[in-house]
Amino acid sequence: MKRDFIDLWQITPEEAWSLLELTLDIKEGDRDARDVLKGKHVALLFSKPSTRTRVSFEIAINQLGGISYFLQESQLQLQRGEDVKDTARTLSRYLDGVIIRTSSHTWLEEFSQYSTIPVINALTDKSHPCQILSDVFTLYEKFGKGIRELKIAYVGDGNNVCNTWLVGAGLFGLNLYVANPEGYEPSSYYLQAGRDLAEMTGGNIYLTTNPKDAVRDADVVYTDVWFSMNDHHDDEKYNALKPFQVNEELLSYAKESVLVMHCLPAKKGQEITEEVFEKYSSFIFTQTENRLHTQKALLYFIYQGK
Ligand code: CP
Ligand code: NVA
Repeated sequence: MKRDFIDLWQITPEEAWSLLELTLDIKEGDRDARDVLKGKHVALLFSKPSTRTRVSFEIAINQLGGISYFLQESQLQLQRGEDVKDTARTLSRYLDGVIIRTSSHTWLEEFSQYSTIPVINALTDKSHPCQILSDVFTLYEKFGKGIRELKIAYVGDGNNVCNTWLVGAGLFGLNLYVANPEGYEPSSYYLQAGRDLAEMTGGNIYLTTNPKDAVRDADVVYTDVWFSMNDHHDDEKYNALKPFQVNEELLSYAKESVLVMHCLPAKKGQEITEEVFEKYSSFIFTQTENRLHTQKALLYFIYQGK
């Protein structure tokens, strides 16, 4: 059976931990993965911009011996109204896998339903599983199993990245404190999925509208843009999010040793100040680098079943 990766709950907690181990092995050169995609053709079908996800996946595919194709939705017959299900069935006859970045999560689910090849979510309006898997790896690389003891705070908009953190916290049994303004909370569906998993794994997920409560004594403070791709700037949202900016004042509530994370791209002066961004930039760009290693492990897992 084909193995999709559309949301984090499609892997078990055991598989999730073994993916972290596999990523470490691949990053440190202890696992020969050169032939994992030998002779395989994998496409990236994107309808939104991307720097990290696109480049890291293309390099991952090539380093695993596969051949990658970048397909822009605007250049396919989809643009002229061809059915999703027909596109999925067509591409399944040529390719061995497809990595999709699109706006509508339900569109991606429909694509997956009709495709007979693995489908990987490279970001939708609802979730960004490759990002959070990689971010948890970045913490695992530094703290090992101790990541379960950390206080992780997500501060900002309740968007796709925030939704996926909820599931990631449940999957790995982490302590996650999420602070969003009223009216900009994450999806209740993802919250429930995260809480259901947390019951099994021993994780804790708290939601608050007070950023200081989330950040107080935190080991990690994570943020993302206030206006995601396809969101229009809106003054009401901007003003509601202002107290959630990750700046020196907010970080003074966190532990001295706090680490700041950002999935990027960042909008400095909005969700994070330039000063804070630069102070933690070395960790942020390690986070960026790890997208490559984690995605190689993910492809290894999907195509070699390990
Ligand atoms: N973090 C992330 O997914 O970046 P891109 O939008 O550049 O791919
Ligand atoms: N929430 C952001 C994440 C970008 C990686 C967006 O969807 O634009």
